[in-house]
Amino acid sequence: MKKKLVVLTGAGMSAESGIATFRDSGGLWEKYPVEQVATPEGFEADPELVLNFYNMRRRELLKAEPNAGHRELVEMEKDFDVQIITQNIDNLHERAGSSHVLHLHGELMKARSTGDPSLIYDIDPANCDIHLGDLCEIGFQLRPHIVWFGEAVPMIQVAEEITHSADIFVIIGTSMNVYPAAGLLNDVRKKVPVYLIDPKDVHTTRYDIHHIKKGASEGVKVLRELLQ
Ligand code: APR
Repeated sequence: MKKKLVVLTGAGMSAESGIATFRDSGGLWEKYPVEQVATPEGFEADPELVLNFYNMRRRELLKAEPNAGHRELVEMEKDFDVQIITQNIDNLHERAGSSHVLHLHGELMKARSTGDPSLIYDIDPANCDIHLGDLCEIGFQLRPHIVWFGEAVPMIQVAEEITHSADIFVIIGTSMNVYPAAGLLNDVRKKVPVYLIDPKDVHTTRYDIHHIKKGASEGVKVLRELLQ
């Protein structure tokens, strides 16, 4: 049986695809106040501004391609049972071909009803903006299918279970600032080796992490060699 490799990814995973991270210098939260564009209160105050923010993100995503790091994680499925838990709202893991991807913070290419959260729709790439006045089938405004700050993270329990079942745990491109995602590290069993791929130092709650201090593309290659 293949070993279970659980990979927690963040914005740095997609940085080499040209998608901006959040907290690096020049990151998204430097340009856009997070309270305005990524909270329920922000959406209530100015829905059009929030819709436009995500419309821009979606247009940017449609121009981006998976990078060598995403592709290498797909290659690793030959040797491992790879389960990806991503904080990213892009679909680059799926487009690279990863078989098991769990989105903790929602998905940019989906829209959701503001009246019934079970009504979720795929967004057509050819017609990818959500406008004020775009309604779900029961007449409520559509919003991005994104977990905003202050909202519950519906997939966290599934993510915790997957993390607990890991034989190897890998963290790629996340500053580990945002909970509950960052807390997943506490669900990794004690003897399970933990690898971190990030060009910068990242503060975590575990001291025995193997830090591969590189960007995602190069870093995943190094990881693969180490694990072979
Ligand atoms: N390869 C790997 N890691 C990289 C690269 C790269 N090429 N470039 C930058 N990084 C690293 C940074 O050093 C940093 O540690 O990626 C991390 C990005 O951190 P953040 O910008 O904080 O992004 P993330 O941790 O994914 O944010 C978590 O916060 O804003 C919310 O919901 C949003 O999912 C997001 C969550």
